Amino acid sequence: MLGNPRTLLAKALRGRYAIGAFNVNNLEILQGVIRAAEAQRAPVIVQTSEGAIEYAGMTELLAMMHTAAKRASVPVVIHLDHGKNLDVVRAAIRSGYTSVMFDGSSLPYAENVARTRQVVRWAHANGVAVEAELGAIKGVEDFVSVAERDAAFTNPEQALDFVTRTQCDSLAVSIGTAHGAHKATGDITLDVARLRRIHALLPKTPLVLHGASSVPDDLVGATHLYCTMLGDCHRLEGAKGIPDAQTRLAIRHGVTKINTDTDLRIAFTAAVRETLIEDTTVFDPRKLLGPARDAVQTIAERRIAVFRSKWKT
Ligand code: G3H
Ligand code: 13P
Ligand code: ZN
Repeated sequence: MLGNPRTLLAKALRGRYAIGAFNVNNLEILQGVIRAAEAQRAPVIVQTSEGAIEYAGMTELLAMMHTAAKRASVPVVIHLDHGKNLDVVRAAIRSGYTSVMFDGSSLPYAENVARTRQVVRWAHANGVAVEAELGAIKGVEDFVSVAERDAAFTNPEQALDFVTRTQCDSLAVSIGTAHGAHKATGDITLDVARLRRIHALLPKTPLVLHGASSVPDDLVGATHLYCTMLGDCHRLEGAKGIPDAQTRLAIRHGVTKINTDTDLRIAFTAAVRETLIEDTTVFDPRKLLGPARDAVQTIAERRIAVFRSKWKT
């Protein structure tokens, strides 16, 4: 069934759990994610980036997501991830996304406020929810100094001003997570003090964690094993994700939507690589992509368990 993003996130905020938001780029990833949510009896958000739309087409992705949502036995939200191009955001609002993100985080503050406000007006007029972003989502090691880090992470007082002025429905915050498979070289500690302050000032606003993949050792190990056999094993060297304990801590302080893309990519690729190497006679795409779909389901179920959204439909 199609889920209402505002109701689901408000319920998650009250219940101190998070809803998994998974990036989908093709049919197999979408099916793996939906099967995981159904197996766990968890509400779920399926989201497409502008890159996914460029790859597969908005109409095609929306048709697949709507069909999957309609058939699913759990609530499914259809969300635009990191909308930066206003034409794409407007098209998403008109075409059937139930929620959109406008990412104005790289704009000067006043411009981020103005554009987010505009998107909120368009979206709310069409019954669509809006996620906005304040602060640059980068790993701690991407900053040259503590002062630079402080300037880039979400400022709690500014977050209050931002949400009040834009009326966005949820807010993506920068507290030390980073996109991709290499989030840090050392131990990862999120800025939970900052998160607590943001949550104290905005107790009713669902907060969103981007760049939150866990990059599990066993999956990285699986891709390593098979890429060693190919004689090319450098791509994931030093890969490191957000420890589950840090993710759980963030959920205790207002984080109610958690994005995962990298973990799905690693699981999918490890499975494809394994099939190609284990059985060199395979040339049927279904035999190649079927195990990848199963691998996506397995990792998505693991994420849902960490988010504590099992049985929350
Ligand atoms: O936050 C970014 C997501 O991982 C989407 O990545 O723009 O390559 O589709 P993408
Ligand atoms: P990861 O790269 O950590 O999976 O983050 C995905 C994300 O934030 C999508 O918006
Ligand atoms: Zn993101």
